[in-house]
Amino acid sequence: MNITAVSTAINAIAADLLVTFVFQDDPLYKKKTTDIVNRFGASVDTALSMKDFSGKEGETLLLYTGNKKAPRLLMIGTGESKKFSLEKLRRAVATGAKKGKSLKVSSLAITVPDVDVILPESIEEIAAAMAEAFLLSLYQYDKYLTKEKIGKPISKITFCTASSFIREIKTGLATGKAIAEATMHARDLTNAPGSDLYPATLAHDAQQTGRRHGFSVRVFEKKKIQQLGMGGVIGVSKGSEKEPRFVIMEYGKQFRKNGTLVLVGKGVTFDTGGISIKPSAGMAEMKMDMGGAAAVVGTMQATAQLKIKRHVVGLIPSVENMPSGSAVKPGDIIRHYNGKTSEVDNTDAEGRLILADALSYAETFKPKLVIDLATLTGACVVALGHYATGMMGNDQESMDALKTAGERSYDRVWQLPMFDEYEKLIKSDIADVKNVGGRWAGAITAGWFLKKFIGNYQWIHLDIAGTAMQEENQDYIPRGGSGAGVRLLIEFLRNWN
Ligand code: BES
Ligand code: ZN
Ligand code: ZN
Repeated sequence: MNITAVSTAINAIAADLLVTFVFQDDPLYKKKTTDIVNRFGASVDTALSMKDFSGKEGETLLLYTGNKKAPRLLMIGTGESKKFSLEKLRRAVATGAKKGKSLKVSSLAITVPDVDVILPESIEEIAAAMAEAFLLSLYQYDKYLTKEKIGKPISKITFCTASSFIREIKTGLATGKAIAEATMHARDLTNAPGSDLYPATLAHDAQQTGRRHGFSVRVFEKKKIQQLGMGGVIGVSKGSEKEPRFVIMEYGKQFRKNGTLVLVGKGVTFDTGGISIKPSAGMAEMKMDMGGAAAVVGTMQATAQLKIKRHVVGLIPSVENMPSGSAVKPGDIIRHYNGKTSEVDNTDAEGRLILADALSYAETFKPKLVIDLATLTGACVVALGHYATGMMGNDQESMDALKTAGERSYDRVWQLPMFDEYEKLIKSDIADVKNVGGRWAGAITAGWFLKKFIGNYQWIHLDIAGTAMQEENQDYIPRGGSGAGVRLLIEFLRNWN
């Protein structure tokens, strides 16, 4: 898709569909300066006087102009200007993009709202959010759809501004495009079936991404993982014919003096539950159990593409959790990378077993902060549903910063308590820790398990079990893999200090 910006009011643009925004407290007919009125005056006035459209949030009005160069004008209501926000802008843009798609237009032009209506956002942020929402809302996992079913894509989009901020807008659009592409990459990985995406192919994807976007990638195979003593990764992978992988991605080593961020992503490419097998209903969804890994690959991609001045390391322990004669069994004891042991009470609590190795391995990078992302517990989905990622950790300041990044990106997180009382629920009589904590507070006992394996660094655990996969179509997030975590982490990283 060709994305351009022009410093021309939308009235002078030729495109199959023009999209513009109208606030309910600033209806078009009152805005004498708006050129659109001159071009489309009659039909706009009629529609407004008939009260078919008043600019309320979510309202749309499609006008046919009779002008071949710009045959359609879509006005999107954006509500009260005082209550406008980046998120409302994203949703409005998504409405425009989807309308363009359903009308099968090939070119579309859209107005960039004036900076003064979304104070205190910069025009760059506004443009970035627009590009992001536009691209994300048109996402479709179409790899396995035969050609006829795929709609004709919009090939050209022009962002129009009457302001003099064209340079800032162009920068913002490039930022938004990079973030959207990284998010869509994470969506593709999450949506990929287990038959195609297994540890070796996930590692291969990371390698290709590194080559394409400029970060280094090392992949440990089974033998090396064994030699390193990563008993969790080896143990969980034992039941599968697919060998495990441990992926290390690294970007921006030269910025190490500013502090290293290590990202760890759960990469269970399919989770049957193992010997503690899951019920068959809904099991297909467990192809998404590498959503954490997908978010880490996506974040590495965007970090490199945006040339963020930070040392960022991405770690992915990857396995397929299968039941078989060689699988890990309830009652088995595993020794992890840092020497600690865990009793496997339930083979379906496998994510924490592989993360334990990765979190203790993270220490070798002497990180300032480690953030892990994992589709870790059904309990987190019960607690928060699909609209917030569960957050736990040992450093309140970092968690507060992440929460702010979540609100800005709308890739939101919600903190759960890590009170000491929860710790005893995962006590084992025969090993250092047990991998399940009983019926209650499953998301928190999982967090506590991970905490046993962290090193001397600030740490945040993100349980994305509910957010990595969406059940319903939303404005710019379609049903299926969402890419949750990518936009959150990039927003966080751009402001990290
Ligand atoms: N991958 C699942 C968690 C999950 C559930 C992710 C639903 C996305 C949607 C995880 O490995 C798991 O099975 N966890 C168990 C833990 C239990 C055995 C303590 C769970 O949540 O039931
Ligand atoms: Zn599981
Ligand atoms: Zn799992």
